[in-house]
Amino acid sequence: MIKTDIQRPLAEEVYSEELYALEYADKGNRRPEGWRLSPRAVRNFILGTDKPVKTDCKEVHIKQKYFGNNSMIERAIVTLAGNRGLMLVGEPGTAKTMISELISAAVCGCSSNTVQGTAGTTEDNVKYSWNYAMLLAKGPVREAIIPAPVFIGMEKGIITRFEEITRCPLEVQDILISIMSDKVMNIPEWGSEGMLFAAKGFNIIATANTRDKGVNEMSSALKRRFNFETVEPVKNVSLEKTIIAQQCSELLKSCGIDNEIDMTAAEVLASVFVELRSGISPEKASIPKLSCVMSTAEAVSVYYQSALEAEYYGNGKITMKKLTENLLGAVAKENKDDLPKLREYYGGAVKLRAEKLGGIWQELYDSRSQI
Ligand SMILES: Nc1ncnc2c1ncn2[C@@H]1O[C@H](COP(=O)(O)OP(=O)(O)OP(=O)(O)O)[C@@H](O)[C@H]1O
Ligand SMILES: [Mg+2]
Repeated sequence: MIKTDIQRPLAEEVYSEELYALEYADKGNRRPEGWRLSPRAVRNFILGTDKPVKTDCKEVHIKQKYFGNNSMIERAIVTLAGNRGLMLVGEPGTAKTMISELISAAVCGCSSNTVQGTAGTTEDNVKYSWNYAMLLAKGPVREAIIPAPVFIGMEKGIITRFEEITRCPLEVQDILISIMSDKVMNIPEWGSEGMLFAAKGFNIIATANTRDKGVNEMSSALKRRFNFETVEPVKNVSLEKTIIAQQCSELLKSCGIDNEIDMTAAEVLASVFVELRSGISPEKASIPKLSCVMSTAEAVSVYYQSALEAEYYGNGKITMKKLTENLLGAVAKENKDDLPKLREYYGGAVKLRAEKLGGIWQELYDSRSQI
């Protein structure tokens, strides 16, 4: 049952019907110990299926959730099936967190067992701490332990997600070294042989952002315990458009707005993002390289913001003026030097397209005075 009064339900709640159907249809298939679904079913959950999946009472459509490199997703799942940790690295907004949530929801039915890494993350936030009143009353019994995500993952045999691992101090990151190789956590308060052995199914999916703080600082011992997968930004306009449309339609529905997505506006926005990100346009016009990250997540939020403004202050239809204004916000937030480059893009590639195609591209070109 999805709680309707929370902003963002967990993946396993949002997709509970899909997960149930996949599990139902997956009976008898081989799966790693401790896993709820087979690797094939986990893949299908993330990449979608052509045909609906049958359960005892209905057919369920499995929606494609990640668009991009399918073999990267397969490798990521196989890494976990082989009991190795998975490290997803890449530029901001490339869906690393989304992939880690979806895989966790599918593999163990829980995507919320997460360490949210920051510069202030401590050993207690990763392993466990004590309820001191209980500790004094009963001694170091299990009940007196306040478990943190790695403890919970090991005890229950589920995945622990470690977000933004490279933001944590190195000594906190290094806690994982022995846990990942020995699959055991020492609990000194339990005596010389006090140990928590990881149940089958325990594993770690970490994410790290290559833009803010590199993975270079991670110790090589820890790096060796993970298989690294790089999540690349989308390079193709039609994929970017599909993501914008799908994500914005869900976001707008969650705000009670049931407007159709304007696919032409989504395509223009997708082209702008892909071209600014790659520096290449179909007309081979010169495109300046921006220093800011033109991530798909930002494309989604530019469309979403423009759609909300259209709904609340306009006639519900997205205008290119609003799109440009919101694009400006996304570009200017990191480096003001990017603004002249954006102007140059409008005066070059966008102008060419306006002359060739007119219509919405002309409207976009006409909105350049906003920049
Ligand atoms: N290839 C993609 N397929 C589907 N959705 C995508 C894709 N790339 C980006 N998105 C969208 O971007 C959103 C943000 O992604 P997410 O927060 O997972 O990125 P991230 O890589 O973890 O970013 P950060 O490094 O800033 O934490 C996703 O929820 C999704 O809407
Ligand atoms: Mg993230």
